[in-house]
Amino acid sequence: MTKDFQIGFVKNEVYKVEQFGNSFKLIDTQGTKVGTLGATTSTRKGAFNEGKALQAYINKNGKKTFRKVDMSVYNSLVIPMNTQDGGVQFEDNTDHTAIKDFIHQGSVNLKPTELVMTELKWKYLIRSAVRAKNIMMTGPAGCGKTMAAKALVKALDRPDFYFNLGATQDPRATLIGNTHFDKNKGTFFSQSAFVSAIKTPNAVILLDELSRAHPDAWNILMTVLDQGQRYLRLDEAEGSPIVKVADGVTFIATANIGNEYTSTRVMDRAILDRFVTIEMDVLTDEQEFGLLKYMFPEVNQDDLKAIAEIAHHTRTQSMSDSGKVTSMVSTRASVEMAGLIYDGFDLFESAEISIFPFFSPDGGVDSERTYIKQLVQKYVKDESGEPLFNEVDQEKDSEDDIPMF
Ligand SMILES: Nc1ncnc2c1ncn2[C@@H]1O[C@H](COP(=O)(O)OP(=O)(O)OP(=O)(O)O)[C@@H](O)[C@H]1O
Ligand SMILES: [Mg+2]
Repeated sequence: MTKDFQIGFVKNEVYKVEQFGNSFKLIDTQGTKVGTLGATTSTRKGAFNEGKALQAYINKNGKKTFRKVDMSVYNSLVIPMNTQDGGVQFEDNTDHTAIKDFIHQGSVNLKPTELVMTELKWKYLIRSAVRAKNIMMTGPAGCGKTMAAKALVKALDRPDFYFNLGATQDPRATLIGNTHFDKNKGTFFSQSAFVSAIKTPNAVILLDELSRAHPDAWNILMTVLDQGQRYLRLDEAEGSPIVKVADGVTFIATANIGNEYTSTRVMDRAILDRFVTIEMDVLTDEQEFGLLKYMFPEVNQDDLKAIAEIAHHTRTQSMSDSGKVTSMVSTRASVEMAGLIYDGFDLFESAEISIFPFFSPDGGVDSERTYIKQLVQKYVKDESGEPLFNEVDQEKDSEDDIPMF
């Protein structure tokens, strides 16, 4: 799929319709009259009569159209947020209805179509951000944690900042800053981008791969994330300057918890307690197939189905105590595999590149690598489209699968 546009709603292009004499004009979320923007008369008039807003929508030909959406979508972009008691509230905090409408209706259109996540979890994600909770996305590798966190950041239309804590070796420099020496100025301190981020009111700060961060990073973040403290100390020494976290700032972290990667450190209980947790679900085979079809409509569906089933099989196997494999094919790896097929590699070649390396070759014919190769082979077809391995072979395979004691 090499479209240079994205099908779906355009996040910020939401308009209400007002009548001026005989004509219906669009008003943007700043309150400015912007004309018709190419929306047809019947669309504008229809929205006005039904009390709906119009949101820009890119159709499958890349053309911008307008679709009716609930007024709450428009209102959510107009109403500025402020903070009270550590929780972000809408300006008129007696208007609890506006908040509920945004969570339950307005936000639904803001979820990217290609993100597979239940509507309930998406709403909970939005609700946690609106209420200025610290949010932790958990789940195994490649299941969409970073994708969901980024989608939330985009949907909220607030100042956003991204920090990958898994990649940083020097937490102090990343989170606090550096002390420099200049022969004219003497010693001076340059604050980190993180310090600027926490000083920005209503910022949404993504702390990616917090579970892989250096323990020093967790220590530094402890007071920042605590709802009762919310400050960053620039130096360990007592009495050293502190930076207060601005009102309405929300943190979203991601963590691989309970997965096979040893590089993930065991996170401190105290840091985990500072977050509400949203666990990303591992996709079912139907969901995975649906996602792959959506992403690669040009690829042969049998191949996509094979990928989804192979991935699903490794997931159920790796989660069971007596499973044949100990790691799973992630959605990231499935997407990668489908992308290779799209670019002309065959099913087996794609598997060889994107999934075999995750399975250990130790043990030769009894290894996980051999098992996964045999699994993929069952889906490989010959030129006539017939499976290379017939039922008898498969039965024989499954007999071989009976564990020996
Ligand atoms: N739930 C999902 N919905 C749609 N696409 C997904 C989903 N999960 C994974 N993907 C695909 O896999 C890719 C990797 O996902 P992402 O980076 O969000 O994983 P992650 O959970 O953050 O992994 P890691 O633990 O390695 O950081 C995405 O770019 C997307 O193509
Ligand atoms: Mg990630």
